[in-house]
Amino acid sequence: MRVRIAEIFLVLLVGHYQCESANILVLEELLSPSHFLWLKKVTAGLVAAGHNVTVVTPGTDVSSENLHYIYMEKVYDMVYKPLDESGTDFFDFGLMNPFLQFLFLSDWVTNSCKGFVASDGWQVLKNYPDDFKFDLVIHDFPAGICMLSFLQKFNYPPLVFMTAYAEYNFIAYVTKTVLTPAYSPYATLAELKPTFLARLENFLLHTVDYFYYKFIIFPEMDRIVSSSFENLPPLMELAERTIITMFNYDAAIDGVRQLPPNVIGVGGLQIEKPKELTGVGFNTNLH
Ligand SMILES: *[C@@H]1O[C@H](CO)[C@@H](O)[C@H](O)[C@H]1NC(C)=O
Repeated sequence: MRVRIAEIFLVLLVGHYQCESANILVLEELLSPSHFLWLKKVTAGLVAAGHNVTVVTPGTDVSSENLHYIYMEKVYDMVYKPLDESGTDFFDFGLMNPFLQFLFLSDWVTNSCKGFVASDGWQVLKNYPDDFKFDLVIHDFPAGICMLSFLQKFNYPPLVFMTAYAEYNFIAYVTKTVLTPAYSPYATLAELKPTFLARLENFLLHTVDYFYYKFIIFPEMDRIVSSSFENLPPLMELAERTIITMFNYDAAIDGVRQLPPNVIGVGGLQIEKPKELTGVGFNTNLH
């Protein structure tokens, strides 16, 4: 009899753990179709593991059971309209001077923040009951941190950063770890040449980034979200709550970097095992 009771207890215990599903909030602040697709792999995995996932995003997709999209409809317009009006060709961007690229990106992030706050989706999330429980928040961070305002509303669930980008500056700021410009190329540089001038340029880019964000961009973001949330701590303080950061880095492609233990490279996460060729034999005769 005693064995029976132990067995029943064990079955109930295992059953309980298998049914346990978390409510996960994914905040896709970086507007980009490629990031959207990359994170789709992550959310598909979470849903397959039985979790209930809510994705807040400027991209669109159809909700399904356990995967709910909240659409931030104004962000693309807010970011791309000024570019269209000034006749900027997005594809020339990579050819610009790295310092100009930096300025261009800083406009991008503040416009995107304004787009988020103005979207109906922002209100949809704001209208969630204050006691709604999210067990985890995942945030795509390199293009702004305005959506972190919701951490306070949901009583500070654990925060994880995840991005399809291999940029490291911001991670160093929030994890309070060293940034070594000698071998970390700044995001707007195509490569880091091993010359004194190239190293100096890289060092200046990192320094300009740090001060410009600290004194101009982050305070500007604080100002934008303060129209919507009162008594919010500075967004940078909210960002520092992150426990783990996963980014699209692999030493084989991006070069060796010194990472703290809570920063994990998950490069290639989106790659699927190729499907086997089926049907008619593959014809290698090209004539
Ligand atoms: C799952 O997420 C949706 C969207 O956020 C929410 O409305 C629903 O209440 C959640 N389900 C559970 C069981 O918490």
